[in-house]
Amino acid sequence: MTGTAPAPLRIVVGEPTEREISPDLWGIFLEDINWALDGGLNADLVQNGGFEYGPDDHADWGPLTAWTTEGAVRVRRADPLHPENAVHVRLDARGAPARLGNLGYDDGITARAGRYRLALAVRRVDDDARELRAALGGAAADVPLGAAVGAWAFVDATLDVPDPLEASVLRLELPAGVADVDVVSLRPVDPATGEPRTFRADLVAALAELAPAFVRFPGGCIAHGYGLDNLYHWKSTVGPRHQRRHLRNVWGYHQSMAIGYLEYFELCEALGAAPVPVVAAGVCCQNIPGRARAISPDDMPAYIQDVLDLVEFANGAPDTTWGAVRAEMGHPEPFGLRYLGVGNEDEITAEFRDRFVQIHDALRAAHPEITVIGTSGAQLEGRDFDAGWALAREQRVAVVDEHGYRTPHWFHQQVDRYDAYDRTGPAVYVGEYAARSTRLRSALAEAAWMVGLERNGDVVRLASYAPLLARVGGTAWNPDLLYFTATDVRPTASYHVQRMFAQTRGDRVCEVTLSGADDVVRRPSGPQRLRLSSPGADLTWTDVEVDGVRVGDVRTTADGTAHDVGAWPQAGAELSAQLVRTAGTEGAVLTFGGDGVASSAYTFQVGSWENKSTVVARADDGLDNEIDGPHPFRGLRTGVPRTVRVRTERVDDGTRVRAWVDEALVHDVVDVDLPEQRVVAGATARADGSSTVRVVRVVNASPTARETVVDLPGAGRVHARAETLSGPDPDEGEPFETWPHPPVTTELDGDGRLELLLPPWSVTAVTIHA
Ligand code: AHR
Repeated sequence: MTGTAPAPLRIVVGEPTEREISPDLWGIFLEDINWALDGGLNADLVQNGGFEYGPDDHADWGPLTAWTTEGAVRVRRADPLHPENAVHVRLDARGAPARLGNLGYDDGITARAGRYRLALAVRRVDDDARELRAALGGAAADVPLGAAVGAWAFVDATLDVPDPLEASVLRLELPAGVADVDVVSLRPVDPATGEPRTFRADLVAALAELAPAFVRFPGGCIAHGYGLDNLYHWKSTVGPRHQRRHLRNVWGYHQSMAIGYLEYFELCEALGAAPVPVVAAGVCCQNIPGRARAISPDDMPAYIQDVLDLVEFANGAPDTTWGAVRAEMGHPEPFGLRYLGVGNEDEITAEFRDRFVQIHDALRAAHPEITVIGTSGAQLEGRDFDAGWALAREQRVAVVDEHGYRTPHWFHQQVDRYDAYDRTGPAVYVGEYAARSTRLRSALAEAAWMVGLERNGDVVRLASYAPLLARVGGTAWNPDLLYFTATDVRPTASYHVQRMFAQTRGDRVCEVTLSGADDVVRRPSGPQRLRLSSPGADLTWTDVEVDGVRVGDVRTTADGTAHDVGAWPQAGAELSAQLVRTAGTEGAVLTFGGDGVASSAYTFQVGSWENKSTVVARADDGLDNEIDGPHPFRGLRTGVPRTVRVRTERVDDGTRVRAWVDEALVHDVVDVDLPEQRVVAGATARADGSSTVRVVRVVNASPTARETVVDLPGAGRVHARAETLSGPDPDEGEPFETWPHPPVTTELDGDGRLELLLPPWSVTAVTIHA
């Protein structure tokens, strides 16, 4: 450090160009992952109200999961309420009262005081069963069971809960007789309508702050499921709730479908967002043993009709078959569906192609008004990416969905990714992206990348961070945009970035020149070592050689401890070994470079993703990025020896990494020394009556505060409002916690120019009224 302050940044903002920004650019991705729906957006406080949980959902689950019982309570399957709701319980109070208690989602219900609506289906089995007693916190109600003996009936009651609930139990007691109970729910009552809420109001308010142009649903992996029996079929999510088909959730829990397609469309309507549903492309997810399965050719016509019917359900007049179903559910007005995604991160196999083309052709013929979104696999490059794009170009698919979970390092390198995209081919939907952590560093990297998306808002038509929601204590995937508990909503730094961009949209790109910003090329620094490890497995490594020199045998253990086997010369080295797994379920990791935090490290992971793939990755700032793969791998097997070899060498523009398993080359990749753009600026404009509003975005992902001048040639007196997200430490920002430094808003005035000080580690959106 010389102590010299850097020269001021200068941002010259030109006139709006002809490049129009898609009005649909900033949206949200809603998948039932991390208990985002039941236990999340779904306002129902009762868990497993339909008694449909089972070991398919989770090894130790059953119909009485989340329930307590007292007295004679029996699980029954005979004479169900509906075939899709196959399980119910029988309360037998002939000897003593029979009781049920629901614990909600946290081993006890935590909720605000207020009015709640209890609803359930009941069947009196004998004449003595006349009422149920319900109690929650300080509230109680008697629920008359009026209907005839032997018939299911729906009953409800109001519970006015006087004080906040903490770890409370919803109690239902049958004092006499015998009765069957099913589909129990407890929803807060909306004081404005007197009706039970469908959605948790605080979560909807947090989503509304994101001003989403669209909502993607139901995923993600949920859209195509783990196996054909797990495919998401929209038709089984509409109609009365007790008639909807429950599903095992691929993220390790259960989908009651209480938030089904109608509720999804209604959520879009409430948020003023366009629906972007995604249907399976006639194949399920490939991340299952034996890879993807495809719907049989004989069943494809019916499946394609289902897809066409979804459009009718959304848009058809109430006198159409599916428009009538929508109207019957209380929504006669159409929802104005414009987009439909077909496929999610699929492997582009011959079976996929065949089914995708059939669905795409049928949609184009029957619904030319619908913009179809195709898929380009799970990575931002590679075999499926290329094949997905080639198919899209060949079939003239309107939009292609690209997904990228990458490190901040990568996002800063890729700010210009879309500058060179062909404007005459399919447009892009960046359907899932995140910079791999909840830290400020990641949020700023996302912001830098979003400046690039916005500058290319003519070809990048839609973008959504993923995943959106995660319940604290039920999270299968980090990072997420918005964490929540039973009563709190906890926005991350990335949430604020999304909000800031979406709340300050422009409709045209402005030319921007930025001077004073230096890009950063990160080269390995500090001690560069070769290390072996095996998190999740015990391995014996023999014949370990570095550049042909034997370094001895090594044992690595499941705790992941790394064993140093020598220096890694950056000019290049070859490491080879024979390995055999002696215990555990995972594979091996060969690391070369620094610690992956202060200094980069490469890894060759032989058996990553549950021993199902091989990957070459690069770690920076403690976060890992695949630079090649994952490629399918049949896995290490205990007791079966394998040979592994990695060779690195410096080439003109980067580091080439080659990796072999049993002498078959499985990776050959050059990690190009692309500079990272750490200080990034962009600008857009929108008409506001007779004047033009400009929005300038500046990311300063560096440890240095920057004096900044924004020049607006030709502008006279200007007034601006700047919103800045920043923090003292780029590695601050924990998962499950609220980002602790709320963005700050300042007012600025100037004559044809504005002066501002960008804090270190910051992103600023300046809205300028000239
Ligand atoms: O966003 C979480 C998951 O990531 C999605 O379900 C899937 O599409 C992707 O792999």
